[in-house]
Amino acid sequence: MTRTWPIVHQRVAERLGLDLGRLHPTMVTRALNAVADDLGLESTHALMRLLTSEPNQERLWPRLAARLTVQKSGFFRDQQVFEALAVQHLLPLIARRAKAGQRRLRLWSAGTATGDEAYSLSILLDELIGDLDLWDIAIVGSDLSEDAVKAASLGIFGAHVSKELSADRFRRHFVPHDGNRFEFVSATRGTVRFEIHNLLSGHPLALGEPPYDLILCRNTLMYLSPDAQAAATKKFGAMLGADGVLVLGPAEASLGSTAGLSSLGDPSHAIYRTGFPADQKTKAVVSLSSQLNGGKEAFYPAPVLRPQSPAKTTSATAFFESAPAAEWAGDRSFSQEEQEKWRMIGAEAEEGGDFRTAEMARRFALKASGGASFDRFLLGSLLMKRGKRAEARDILVPLLSLQAPDAADERLQAAAYKLLQSVVGQPAGDRKERLNG
Ligand SMILES: C[S@@+](CC[C@H](N)C(=O)[O-])C[C@H]1O[C@@H](n2cnc3c(N)ncnc32)[C@H](O)[C@@H]1O
Repeated sequence: MTRTWPIVHQRVAERLGLDLGRLHPTMVTRALNAVADDLGLESTHALMRLLTSEPNQERLWPRLAARLTVQKSGFFRDQQVFEALAVQHLLPLIARRAKAGQRRLRLWSAGTATGDEAYSLSILLDELIGDLDLWDIAIVGSDLSEDAVKAASLGIFGAHVSKELSADRFRRHFVPHDGNRFEFVSATRGTVRFEIHNLLSGHPLALGEPPYDLILCRNTLMYLSPDAQAAATKKFGAMLGADGVLVLGPAEASLGSTAGLSSLGDPSHAIYRTGFPADQKTKAVVSLSSQLNGGKEAFYPAPVLRPQSPAKTTSATAFFESAPAAEWAGDRSFSQEEQEKWRMIGAEAEEGGDFRTAEMARRFALKASGGASFDRFLLGSLLMKRGKRAEARDILVPLLSLQAPDAADERLQAAAYKLLQSVVGQPAGDRKERLNG
């Protein structure tokens, strides 16, 4: 045993990236015994001999990986991370892609275990995308464990899912299967595929060639040796598109910055992005979920106006110009007085219940202020009131992105998030309305 042990150590590190020295000795012993049993070998020593003399036996490695790691997962495991992912990355990304007419997304859950993470992503997309039928979406969950991949592909889960999901999500995405089990039947089910894949090798075949928009590799790298962790993180970074993000687990959070990726939002969420301009890196978006979970009621932000910089062309201007009122406004610039005037008209009209006039005025105010977040929020919330949810979403989403001109207003962001949640929570039947605005 002592003579072969260092060789086994090395082989496992080479093939699986796993560092046996990091694992609990009892777990290693139990795993070796179980694999010896699985393969019908007479003893653990026989397995050790096989590992040292015939390491190319493919049947060995998936079994060992499955026994040396824990295939445990959960739906929306770390709720706050998924919320942050949705509002800080997915919503703005979806809005940008839709606007550019590039309705394509590639998402990878690496080390997916029973697939809960990949299915959670598909639930998010179902909630965030109104015109799903127009999108080309691929979500791939991959794992080294063959058993885990088989289980994940079935999409059948125990009663615990009803506790991990909100009642609404559970009702919308699951049907009873047999007895106490439930089958995932979301509208996005067809976008999710599973594949046996070793993190140390190339990309999962089912996902096609990179670049990818999102890679989740959570609670998986922690089993790997430092060299394998560094190699895998670097590889992920290279596979992401310019606006893609990598999400790691809490115990692996430091690996992202070691690989030179920049943290997006709250560093404890371990959400990293590549290709983000250095000057925007530090403009971290607040942890909206923690504010909202603080039990505060939704509030309407007090109209504290910041000194306005001269009107400039922003995405808000472009948006405004696509609205019917653009014909009237044309390209002309607005004075400070006009800006205040439109804000006042908007406020009065809205208070008086004349929402049509209020909408026009809010649009002008938004243009006049050069896309100020305050005006954006007011227009977005008015559009919500008018039932123009798809448009409201497009208007509000940039408030949550790092690119918002004055994104530092945390209360405004929290309020916008609260409003957007009501779009996110729409039942599926509302899709048409969202699509048609
Ligand atoms: C604890 S689970 C994490 C599941 C999920 N990502 C989550 O956070 O809920 C870790 C998974 O990583 C897989 N794994 C370990 N080493 C791997 C490797 N080299 N390549 C692919 N998957 C691996 C294990 O089989 C296990 O299913």
